[in-house]
Amino acid sequence: MITRRSSSGVFLFFSVIFCSLRIGQAGRILIVPLEGSHWVNMDIMIKALHSRGHHIDVVRTNKSWYIKDDVPHYKTVTVSVTKTFDKDFINPILKKIFAIERGKTSILSFISFQIELFRAMFDMHGMMCEMATTMLEDKELMGVLRRKKYDLVLTDPAWGAGIILAHALELPLVYNVRWVTSGEGHLTITPSPLSYIPMIGSGLTDKMTFIQRVKNLLFYALWQIQDMFLICPQYQTVCNQFFGPN
Ligand SMILES: *[C@@H]1O[C@H](CO)[C@@H](O)[C@H](O)[C@H]1NC(C)=O
Repeated sequence: MITRRSSSGVFLFFSVIFCSLRIGQAGRILIVPLEGSHWVNMDIMIKALHSRGHHIDVVRTNKSWYIKDDVPHYKTVTVSVTKTFDKDFINPILKKIFAIERGKTSILSFISFQIELFRAMFDMHGMMCEMATTMLEDKELMGVLRRKKYDLVLTDPAWGAGIILAHALELPLVYNVRWVTSGEGHLTITPSPLSYIPMIGSGLTDKMTFIQRVKNLLFYALWQIQDMFLICPQYQTVCNQFFGPN
């Protein structure tokens, strides 16, 4: 009897130590995801983090499309916005893009396809800037987020709202990324010679003829122009307002 009781006491003692160690390791993570398809793999990652005992808050808009707010594995921080990336926004664009793709491919259809894509990207990043501005102007929300003492922000950098929010909260950033709107995510961290690495949307592979390499370069230029003239200036305006020109 005595040995059994003391061994269960020892077991209890180690269980308490083990549990408190696990609680000690649990982090508080603020997630700023992307709507739509990118959310699908982010959600899987959130489930894995939740199962390891981390506390997770997810930033969404009051018009969220994929990101539900009544699930057990995360809590939501809802931001009110007038426009968002949802099916009302994306369906008309997809319809136009499909129509262009189904038509004869010509220089003209390629150009109208690119213009449609540029316009969609411009609007999408504009919505993200509106969301970031709304959050940073909301002193109450920012106070609540600061008091939660998150360990880090996990975000998909294809849109910039998470990066801006992490900067405002002075928190470390972790990216979950496949592509950003200026190209494949790896392009920003690894050597990616255009003669071997095909750009997104080019339909090319790593083996290119000379003409295909020229085409790849053209796609690269398009992405860069879009970044320089349509996307960066929108985020720069938000940064100027809250952080200054640098
Ligand atoms: C979301 O918030 C905006 C701005 O406050 C408001 O105009 C809109 O009606 C809200 N939408 C929903 C679905 O709650």
